[in-house]
Amino acid sequence: MSILIKNIKELLQVRESNITIVKGEDMKTLPTLQNAYLIIEHDTIVEFGPMSDYEDYQADEVIDAKGKIVLPAWCDSHTHIVYAGDRSQEFVDRINGLSYEDIAQRGGGILNSAEVLQKTSEDDLYEQSLKRLNQVMQLGTGAIEIKSGYGLTVEAELKMLRVIKRLKKSSLAAIKTTLLAAHAVPKEFKDTKKKYVDLVINEMIPEVGQSKLADYIDVFCEKGYFDLEDTERILEAGGRWGLIPKIHVNQFNSFGGVALAVKHKALSVDHLEEMTTEDIEALKNSTTMPVALPSCSYFLSIPYTPARQIIDAGLPLALATDYNPGSTPSGNMNFVVSTACIKLKMTPEEAINAATINGAYAMGLSNQYGSICRGKKANLIITKEIESYNNLPYAFGDNLIDTVIIRGKIIN
Ligand code: NIG
Ligand code: FE
Repeated sequence: MSILIKNIKELLQVRESNITIVKGEDMKTLPTLQNAYLIIEHDTIVEFGPMSDYEDYQADEVIDAKGKIVLPAWCDSHTHIVYAGDRSQEFVDRINGLSYEDIAQRGGGILNSAEVLQKTSEDDLYEQSLKRLNQVMQLGTGAIEIKSGYGLTVEAELKMLRVIKRLKKSSLAAIKTTLLAAHAVPKEFKDTKKKYVDLVINEMIPEVGQSKLADYIDVFCEKGYFDLEDTERILEAGGRWGLIPKIHVNQFNSFGGVALAVKHKALSVDHLEEMTTEDIEALKNSTTMPVALPSCSYFLSIPYTPARQIIDAGLPLALATDYNPGSTPSGNMNFVVSTACIKLKMTPEEAINAATINGAYAMGLSNQYGSICRGKKANLIITKEIESYNNLPYAFGDNLIDTVIIRGKIIN
């Protein structure tokens, strides 16, 4: 199967294969090619260039992209799309005055989702999750990280991870899996949190390590959830099984989690709504990607990640959705890119870099995804006819996507 896309008004994010991360000032540049063509064979980008260099090519399918922009499909490096039911009642409770913390304290929040998930059959959970995955792919996401963390028992965490494995098998999207057993302290361990941490370390991590059901290890490092000591013990235990850290940190409080993650060579630190100068310093000269989740800030009405401070310090930044039933019931990367420009004051170039190449880096996938490069996977968004790529974040709430191609297949 081959596809030729011709007369592309502008081809975005054209990079050499050795570029796998974009930092600081460089994030302001989005390398583009005007009036271009691109050829896909099977699931791979094999050729592209200016139309003036185009030589006749017999493709199985030809797409005329006149007036349209082509860019890499979104790389969403932080989601919790495997969950059961929803928490729309808590949404209403928050409108009526309760805070996210109040709800968690009375046994709602993550524990509410865990209770529902434990009772949901594996097949049902798979079907609910597949629906969400297909929905976000239609919105342009081609690579995605998915976490466990709504199981909170050995059995239910494994159920979630098996569902992710099934999604991986059945979907064209590239999927990376993260074990987030330390997402909340289950009710039974309310007064014996250390015992739950022991369970995570002594049972869950070895079980998951042995069965190779996860790539990464995550902890909700936050006041009222897991402290620095818990986090360090869990990251060390994960490390023994080759699970690389990608952690939830600084969502509500900054207390050293970023430096701890860097010390453990975390691939990413995610949320960062609260950032101190020490946190920024800790990230300098590290290989850890800071990840902002602006839809979460929007939905919970909490501060936005200080993207300017991060990028202006010369650091990279990735953008992801955090799609989950409690803090972000949306997996729309187009909204994330728009919100990053409007609220985080990122330029469209910075936001697109953050949602493609840097997102791929934050999943360990940037050698295959996140830019237009010969030999990379053909994951592409073809926009409708638009004036410039600035219209993507500018027209927030509009769907400006015409066609999505994932691993060389047109999916809409
Ligand atoms: O990234 N903060 C921790 N975990 C999720 C929310 C989980 C939930 O409320 O269900 C997050 O925001
Ligand atoms: Fe999250």
